[in-house]
Order: sequence, then C-alpha cells, then structure tokens
Amino acid sequence: MALTSYGDPAGCKRYIFYRKRSFMNIKTNSNFHNIKETYLFSEIASRVRRYSAENPEKVLIRLGIGDVTLPLAPVVVSAMSDAAQEMGRGDTFRGYPPEAGYEFLRQAIADHYRDNNAEIKLSEIFVSDGAKSDLGNFVDILGANDVLIPDPVYPVYVDSNLMNGNIITLIKGSRENGFLPMPDAIGEKKAYVIYICSPNNPTGAAYNGEQLAAWVNYALETGSLIIYDSAYEAFITDELPHTIYGIEGADKCAVEICSFSKFAGFTGVRCGWTVVPEGLVSDDGTSLNKMWFRRQSTKFNGVSYPVQRAAEAALSKAGMHQCLANIDYYRRNAAMIADVLDRKGIFYTGGKNSPYIWLLCPDNMGSWEFFDKLLNEAQIVGTPGEGFGKAGEGYFRLTAFGTAENTAEACRRLESLL
Ligand code: MLT
Repeated sequence: MALTSYGDPAGCKRYIFYRKRSFMNIKTNSNFHNIKETYLFSEIASRVRRYSAENPEKVLIRLGIGDVTLPLAPVVVSAMSDAAQEMGRGDTFRGYPPEAGYEFLRQAIADHYRDNNAEIKLSEIFVSDGAKSDLGNFVDILGANDVLIPDPVYPVYVDSNLMNGNIITLIKGSRENGFLPMPDAIGEKKAYVIYICSPNNPTGAAYNGEQLAAWVNYALETGSLIIYDSAYEAFITDELPHTIYGIEGADKCAVEICSFSKFAGFTGVRCGWTVVPEGLVSDDGTSLNKMWFRRQSTKFNGVSYPVQRAAEAALSKAGMHQCLANIDYYRRNAAMIADVLDRKGIFYTGGKNSPYIWLLCPDNMGSWEFFDKLLNEAQIVGTPGEGFGKAGEGYFRLTAFGTAENTAEACRRLESLL
C-alpha cells in the first residue's frame, strides 16, 4: 500500500490517502485542498477529548465554542410543546412547511425589524436552520467574485468561499483599529462581496452607525454586496445599530443573516433567517431574492413547525423578556471575566456588546501555546485567536456562555494563573 500525501503550498492542510488497487472514477471538489483539514471547533474538541482521556480526574471548564448553557425560555418551551401536540392530531397536523418559512414567523421577524426602525417585507425574509448554514450556502448563488473578509473572523466565511474556489482578500483587524477594519484600508477600490460581522465573532468589537454607513457607502459606490452577520445583535448594550438596515441605502447592497441560537438559546434547536431585499440585483439584472428562493426551494425543505412556533414565541413580548433575561445572565459572566483581565492589566476587546472576550495572550505567547497552558494548568478550554485567521495570532477568545458557577470558578483559576 503506497502512501500519498496532498497538501497546498502553504502547508495548511494535509489529506492522507492509502492508495488501494482501484480508485473510483469520480472527481471531488479540489478546492477542499485549500482549506484546513479540520474545522476549528472540531480540532479543539478533539484536543480536549485527548486531554480528558489522558487526565480523567481533571474537571474542565469549557469556555471555547460559543454554545449556550441556559435552558430555553418557558414561553418558547410551551409554544414548542403546543405545536408538537398539534402535529399529533389529524385536524392540525402539517406536512412540509412553506419553503421560506411560515408567515406567522416571518411576520414576527418583520415586526422585530420594525422595532429596530427597519422596514422589511415578508417576501424578503427566509427562515432557515441557522445562520451558519445560510452563511455557508449563500456562496451557491454568487459567481466568481472578489471577496473581502475581515481577519480575524468566524471561519465559515473563509472556508465556504475557499470551497467555491473564490479569491479572498483579507482586511486586517488589530489593536490599533479596535478590531474594526474600515473601507479606507482597502487596497484596490472595486466591487467585492464583503463579509461583516457586528458585534464581531471572535473579537466582540461592534461597529457604530457612522462606521457601518462608511461600509454601506463603499458598497453603493463600488457596486459591492455586503453579507452582514448579525447573530450577536441581542448582546448590544450601547447605542449601536442592531441591523444594517438601520443604515440608509443598505437595502440596495446588503443581505443580513441572523439567528435564534445566541438570542434565544437555539444552538440545539436550530433556527435562523436571512433577509434578501428585493432591490438587490446583480450586474446582469438577476434578482438575488429570486435566486435565493430558487436555491432554498431546491436544496432545503424548511424548518419544522414546532421550531418555527418556538421561534415566534421567542420574538413575542414575553419571549423577548425571558430571552433578554438570559442574555443579562451571560453579560454578568462576561463582566466577571473582564474584571479579572482589568485587574491583571491584560488588553481585551468585547464582553460588553458581545458574549465574547478577546484578549491578548500574556507574555507574548502564541494563541495555541496559551490554549495548551490554560488547558494543562487551569483546565480551562478557550479558543485560540489564530483559529480565526492570521491576525488572531497572539490573541485568545473566551465565551460568557458558561454557567455562572463555572465562569466564577474559571475566573478564580485565571486569577491565580495570570
Ligand atoms: C463560535 O463559537 O464561534 C460559534 O458558536 C460558532 C457558531 O455559531 O457556529
């Protein structure tokens, strides 16, 4: 058996195959050779599993992946359970949901936008199983565009564009620009597909209205498309835009992708949405809204009725109240972590308008080096900044999504370690 190794020139991935006598006569998407072999959070999970297997007596505190720990809000549970009962009766049973989502949920989402001073039509809202899927799938309807992505950033944007063979230009976030890169740093002023995440994953930094307006103006001037990820908008406490559609002209240049995962604790329930304004038209006159509908109705069969009823309940008055109380709980966790860093004089961003705290690794440590130190010496799992891009090297992300008890214990451990 011969061993064959394929790797890209930067050495960022290695697929190893055992050459058997016969291969199939099919081709795979060779663009996968340009992405890392393992998705960031799978890599962390496997390192943590290995550590736990070798150290079964150690109790880990997981502040790595941004996964919620509080249970669903009571109104959400009751809506989901009522809907499940309806599905069990002949007169109220429902089969396939409408492709873009039930009208009751799209109406609740449109009302949510109205509360944030943005008018969105029901025909512009597409319910999905979460922001990650939509962010990854949206490339399906786009051609070979130049793509502009902030660095560091949620790895799904880079990976899904590399999988499609797109050329990516990175725009650097740094301590100097507060991890909020602006369009004046773009080398060549031209049309791009631009990804913006605000409040940002992983840095927790959030654009203000003026900064977002600069991005919208850039997009309008150059004919660019903005893909705006607002998954963390519910964490905003300062006077900052909760949606890009609060900015004039955004309906002519931006798609917005949002999620119930962080706001309503739906990481395991799965529901999100994408807004594709009817005014978005490509260079050959194609409507992006129509294309996305076509893509979704071909490749996606919608979100289950009980989940859509649960999502509707999360956006109700009582639901908002209960979900925002959960967000306050996570905010208190963030404040605990921030207090330790303040006392230790460690630079960080986030933690205020975001569940993420992005800190400079102490003693010039690399981010994976600090990951190992925290894991081995304090049994805390975090996320190395380098996993979010080269500009994240030397930084580290902690989440506020743990339980209050675990977060307090992690803070005690950090206090003695740092
Ligand atoms: C994260 O930790 O960055 C997020 O939980 C990932 C996600 O939302 O998919």
